[in-house]
Amino acid sequence: MIWRQIDGDRELIVGDRAGGVLIQGDARTADLSAYQGRVQCVYLDPPFYTGDEFSFRMRIGEKGWAEGTPNMVLNAYSDSFPGGRAQYLQLLRGMLERAYDLLSDTGALFLHLDSRMSAHARILCDQIFKESNFINEIIWAYQSGGRAKTHFSRKHDVILFYAKSRSLYFDITRVAVPRRDNRSNHMRRTVDEKGRPCRTIRAGGKLYTYYDDEPVFPDDVWADVSHLQQKDPQRTGYDTQKPLALLNRIVRCCTRPGDIVADLCCGSGTTLAAAAENDCRFLGVDLSPHAISVCRKRLLDTTLEIRTPFDRTDARLEADMMPGIGYYTIELKSFDAALRIPEGTVFHPRGLKVEGLDAVDQWSVGFLRDGAYKTYVSSARRKQSPELKTLLELPLLRGQVAISVVDVLGTRTLWAAEPDR
Ligand SMILES: C[S@@+](CC[C@H](N)C(=O)[O-])C[C@H]1O[C@@H](n2cnc3c(N)ncnc32)[C@H](O)[C@@H]1O
Repeated sequence: MIWRQIDGDRELIVGDRAGGVLIQGDARTADLSAYQGRVQCVYLDPPFYTGDEFSFRMRIGEKGWAEGTPNMVLNAYSDSFPGGRAQYLQLLRGMLERAYDLLSDTGALFLHLDSRMSAHARILCDQIFKESNFINEIIWAYQSGGRAKTHFSRKHDVILFYAKSRSLYFDITRVAVPRRDNRSNHMRRTVDEKGRPCRTIRAGGKLYTYYDDEPVFPDDVWADVSHLQQKDPQRTGYDTQKPLALLNRIVRCCTRPGDIVADLCCGSGTTLAAAAENDCRFLGVDLSPHAISVCRKRLLDTTLEIRTPFDRTDARLEADMMPGIGYYTIELKSFDAALRIPEGTVFHPRGLKVEGLDAVDQWSVGFLRDGAYKTYVSSARRKQSPELKTLLELPLLRGQVAISVVDVLGTRTLWAAEPDR
């Protein structure tokens, strides 16, 4: 069987969970017209104006995924603005205007920054969303990293929460947390007449009773969500990845199942994963091809549409296709990725050469149908399953059989089957 590399604009992945759309592009200019006024929650975690370059650590081959090395560290995105604060705030304004247009009247914006730009951002949000629609300045306090001696260590991020309008949908009961001991130390521990443990406090002549087994609603200081530790199994290798618990709280408090959640700087796809976990649909946009490949892998069990053209490369693919009863078995035999390693890439170990199927991070089989490539079966390297399956079984359905490959640089190629002559 000959496999010819072809063009394609859309990939549809058939999964079991609620899904959505992923777009590689600039949040300010990508075509999002179909979402205008329909999104219930926009979470924005843009560059913070740190002046740093951020990377993505891609593990290589079965050994890399099982043990951590070999790997390559690639540039993921830049948080450096030669034009200074004015250039940064222009980017932020563009994203906020986009978010405003996407949101429905009941929708909510969560803008995640740190102390560098949060004051400037608040003014921008007041202008775009109106001061009267400001809801909260959430402090996400964490304990990661070292301790400073020249100032108090900066151990919090700021999440600005705005409503699109007075019709905001918000349900704090969906994010209730168990009551913690340490906050109630000043209260008297007791039991009520039925023996149920509680704490009481008398204030202004009134007795207040709080039951230990009753959940409490979070306030605007979130100290109960920890930063991702180095060894956290959630880690994808994408710098600045946020914890799923944080995004679950944000998504849950302002959406109902079926709503649309958008993240216009989606990075490793934490928001999109939280949306899927809460039965919401999602829209993810990011400039970086590494973000798109990480999100693709993270969301393979959702019904995902990637609205981004496949790449054209000098790669070569060899695969066999064996017909069976009701399905084809497709065997990936070799892949010469012809990788164009970007400048600045760091290899561990030094001098590493990425060859053969080690260059493949994900591959799938499916059909070309109705102007799109529809993926049915996939294999992707993961920490829990480092080995790439080289045999995939594709049900016999209508359409031309095709293969898609995502290599270790995030390059996505599409291949159509052509019978041997
Ligand atoms: C702080 S990271 C997001 C991390 C993400 N919340 C996560 O959990 O992985 C910021 C992201 O913004 C993206 N980005 C920067 N400028 C952008 C733009 N103009 N349009 C879309 N994405 C952009 C970067 O590529 C990067 O992935």
